Amino acid sequence: MAIIQFPKDIKWGAATASYQIEGAAEEDGRGPSIWDTFSKTPGKVLNGDNGDVACDSYHRYEEDIELLKELGVDVYRFSVAWPRIFPNGTGEINKKGIEFYHKFVDTLLESGIEPMCTLYHWDLPQALQEEGGWNNRATIDAFVQYAEVMFREFSGKIKYWITLNEPWCTSFLSNFIGAHAPGNTDLQLATNISHHLLIAHGRAVQKFRELDIDGEIGFAPNTTWMEPFSNKEEDIDACRREVAWFVEWFMDPVFKGEYPKFMIDWFKNKGITLPLEDGDLEEIHQPIDFLGINYYTGDVCRHKENNGLFDSETVDMGLDRTDINWPIYPDGFYHVLTYVKERYGNLPIYITENGSCYNEEPVDGSVKDTGRIQYLQKHLTSLSRAIESGVNIQGYLTWSLLDNFEWAEGYSKRFGIVFVDFHTLERTKKDSYYWFKQTIANNRFEV
Ligand code: BGC
Repeated sequence: MAIIQFPKDIKWGAATASYQIEGAAEEDGRGPSIWDTFSKTPGKVLNGDNGDVACDSYHRYEEDIELLKELGVDVYRFSVAWPRIFPNGTGEINKKGIEFYHKFVDTLLESGIEPMCTLYHWDLPQALQEEGGWNNRATIDAFVQYAEVMFREFSGKIKYWITLNEPWCTSFLSNFIGAHAPGNTDLQLATNISHHLLIAHGRAVQKFRELDIDGEIGFAPNTTWMEPFSNKEEDIDACRREVAWFVEWFMDPVFKGEYPKFMIDWFKNKGITLPLEDGDLEEIHQPIDFLGINYYTGDVCRHKENNGLFDSETVDMGLDRTDINWPIYPDGFYHVLTYVKERYGNLPIYITENGSCYNEEPVDGSVKDTGRIQYLQKHLTSLSRAIESGVNIQGYLTWSLLDNFEWAEGYSKRFGIVFVDFHTLERTKKDSYYWFKQTIANNRFEV
């Protein structure tokens, strides 16, 4: 038996996002977001599900905070629904939206839990989408205005800020692959959007500094890891492109003030260019206080001529998979963390999301989600390896506190450590909740 021990000052937490849990879609002046539109477009979300009610956390946040308190977390990562603050994206501020987040943040603080606020977890006000969404630079201005309102309002209460969640998803998954709102399938458009998102991030960071807000700011890209099938140069290069699409594409501009040249060249060969304007890279290249890392899965990959965007294919090595069919690849977590450290230096890192989909339901009041416990054990062991290797890990937040609206998968895929019955909205703590609680309390576990 081995003991996996964590540093005593590591911060533990759980994460969620507004559209996935809040519900109350038309309450207190909230405007529609692109996810309302997308989920109500037939064929876009499994079973025609939408976030109108979700976990109803808008009304049940006190109960959710009780769950967090009992879990013993230091930090809770949540996101603000931009359309609750600006129902039309810009213009008049909706006071009721601000009031809601004050009540919510106050309750967290009274419970001794540090709020970590994501400004953009994908629910773009629909009104902005109508003007071109993230393809229109006016959306960047609107985002910075919204960020400023939030910074000013919550300064002194919220210390941890995340500008963007997973800009790869907002750009490529949503506008090239088309699986998420607004559902476009245009690589040039998606590339433009990836760039505009990074400018929005950088300008929000500039605003944060300008206002001299007491706290820390970062962003939370999603990462993956691809292990080359062989040591052939072409397999290594294929993996390098696959990983860079998630890692370097979004991190190089922020940390180095430039895009990775090999990726620019690769895209150029496909006729895709960046909509670069003077000063963009300087705006993006702002020092940040921490990096958020989201990691779920990785795989083994090799070169395959004319296959996909990167002349590559994944190879099924028989890795176990979660109920969403993602390979379980904890070594990838370690590799990507050490890679980020080597490439960008030893900046403070929060694991802002890591977790798994298992669909067990309650039987006699308990949920035996052993798969999730094993997933957590394996990934926390990799995290411990990374810490031992000198990666500057400040905290670990699991995805997710609650089963919730899993985007295009609707309510069919469960990532929570707390089960939510989507008919009665009743919450049931899963076995993984108790396991995580114990790990937090002891700051270690045994494998
Ligand atoms: C997102 C979450 C999502 C989770 C599981 C991440 O991509 O930030 O919103 O629910 O992964 O798919």
